[in-house]
Amino acid sequence: MAVTDKKLTALDVMLDQPVIPVIVLNEVAHAVPMAKALVAGGIRMLEITLRTPVALDCMRAIADEVPAAVVGAGTIRSAADAKAALAAGARFGVSPGYTGAIGKTCQDIGLPLLPGIATGSEIMLAQQDGYTELKFFPAMQAGGPNLLKAWAGPFADIKFCPTGGVSPENAPTLLALPNVVVVGGSWLTPANLMAKGEWAAITAMAAEACKFAR
Ligand code: 3PG
Repeated sequence: MAVTDKKLTALDVMLDQPVIPVIVLNEVAHAVPMAKALVAGGIRMLEITLRTPVALDCMRAIADEVPAAVVGAGTIRSAADAKAALAAGARFGVSPGYTGAIGKTCQDIGLPLLPGIATGSEIMLAQQDGYTELKFFPAMQAGGPNLLKAWAGPFADIKFCPTGGVSPENAPTLLALPNVVVVGGSWLTPANLMAKGEWAAITAMAAEACKFAR
């Protein structure tokens, strides 16, 4: 079954491409062409952040009009955010931090979640609730590759998606670590390119990102 049709796990989302784009949309009109541009470059797991008033409308538009894309919701900060994202067509969620309420709600409603963590205690709380694939945020600010190396000992069974300060320059170093499956970053969808409708440039950056080894 195609990954775009089946019920996903967080690991499915992580394995699909080397980079999960962290997307901030200010206009609904940008949603569909942006999604098509990323898909054309080989990236179909799209994290639409709940940071703008139009985010849910953007998710609905992509879910309706770009079947080759998989809509995800980023910046989930409450159980209500998770429910709203699911109703808008999100098929996975990403949170900048972790709470038991978000973890349990996502399990109850069947929304695969990449919970955000930045410390050993947070890793343990998320794992206690059944989460073993985690977003490390803000990755470069909080310790970057050295912290990921330190975690590989005590948390050998955890897979990470470092996000925050990740760039085309440092992504290969992160992706080379055995406990990193994928990285997240906002560089694939800069506001200025979206405002100017430079979709071909976004496709080109997505295609470059898909070349990262891991
Ligand atoms: C996030 O929300 O995950 C980060 O803001 C993305 O970080 P970046 O803009 O440094 O890529």
